[in-house]
Amino acid sequence: MTILVTGGTGYIGSHTVVELQNAGYDVVVMDNLCNSSMKVLDRIEAITGKKVPFYEADIRNREDLEKIFSNEKIDAVIHFAGLKAVGESVQKPWEYYENNISGTLTLLDEMRKHNVKNIIFSSSATVYGNPAIIPITEECPKGVCTNPYGWTKHMLEQILTDIQKADNEWNVVLLRYFNPIGAHKSGTMGENPNGIPNNLMPYITQVAVGKLDHLNVFGDDYDTPDGTGVRDYIHVVDLAKGHVKALKKLEPGTGLSLYNLGTGVGYSVLDIVKNFEEANGVKIPYVIAPRRAGDIATCYSDASKAEKELGWKAENGIREMCEDSWRWQKNNPNGYED
Ligand code: NAD
Ligand code: UFG
Repeated sequence: MTILVTGGTGYIGSHTVVELQNAGYDVVVMDNLCNSSMKVLDRIEAITGKKVPFYEADIRNREDLEKIFSNEKIDAVIHFAGLKAVGESVQKPWEYYENNISGTLTLLDEMRKHNVKNIIFSSSATVYGNPAIIPITEECPKGVCTNPYGWTKHMLEQILTDIQKADNEWNVVLLRYFNPIGAHKSGTMGENPNGIPNNLMPYITQVAVGKLDHLNVFGDDYDTPDGTGVRDYIHVVDLAKGHVKALKKLEPGTGLSLYNLGTGVGYSVLDIVKNFEEANGVKIPYVIAPRRAGDIATCYSDASKAEKELGWKAENGIREMCEDSWRWQKNNPNGYED
């Protein structure tokens, strides 16, 4: 079985390619490299011992897609490609809607032209907005998103749902990720953000490596045990393995499936700082700063549906997530440029 991985040189995509190859799948990667480096392909190959066929291609470009679907015999698509910076999406809404929505519509059209009607889509816990239920089950109603990035996920879920409803040859899996952190155990692959990181763990690792001075903790007056925001952090390799398990929901006649991919455990910002310091023996200086616009107090999953139906459960705990994030950053202070 051959899987096309869009956005396959990105953070989650690259780790998923490793797990797919390890599980015996043939993989083809496409990416326009707007937020990733081709160097990751050598790292993947060094881990799995397998070549990664790669197309530098854009999901918005029909000719690019035509070439891939004509050259390769694709059975299913795992669709990671997209822009994902929450703050930037507020500044550049057109770019987010155009890239994520228009790009996905073009991809879906080329897929159906080539009779490839199996897709796993990267969605996000952000679609729950300020969640009505904690822990968040898949039945929790979708909420009001606080930024254009979130709306692209919300809308693409609806688009994929409607397309599957109209044509039951489609099999669609929507995976709602919680907060992926961590890196491959080898320390050769990990998250490689451009500029100053927006997300907590890459910010912490850059403080630890001395690139940033201190962490700003965004608010300590939330209604949580220590006042700081609580999230469901999940190891990126566990998340990657969740995609391999989800492939079984692309069997003919399965239709639409929807899963949370999280651990079911919530940690506060200060819990993460403490765990990182204990796991790695490094100090993370921090200051309490004002709340960040658009943040919510608490977001963690009920992860039982994926366990019951996919036989998938996150295996790594917070200590491994902290150790692996640090090993990657320490060995590669400048990401894939090292
Ligand atoms: P990433 O930026 O590392 O990977 C996305 C990849 O898509 C990049 O390599 C980028 O170059 C590529 N890309 C973007 N637009 C493209 C286009 N038009 N054509 C071809 N390639 C394009 O991000 P990630 O963290 O690996 O996220 C992967 C997916 O998971 C995204 O869809 C993201 O929205 C979703 N997601 C991520 C998180 C998270 O916290 N990291 C949480 C929930 C959902
Ligand atoms: N935080 C800080 N300081 C920082 C960065 C983050 O205190 O420098 C706090 C935030 O306020 C929040 C927590 O750390 O309480 C996690 O923040 P992140 O930015 O790492 O993650 P978010 O939960 O805000 O959002 C992430 C992705 C979204 C995705 C969502 C899914 O950025 O794209 O997880 O739950 F939709």
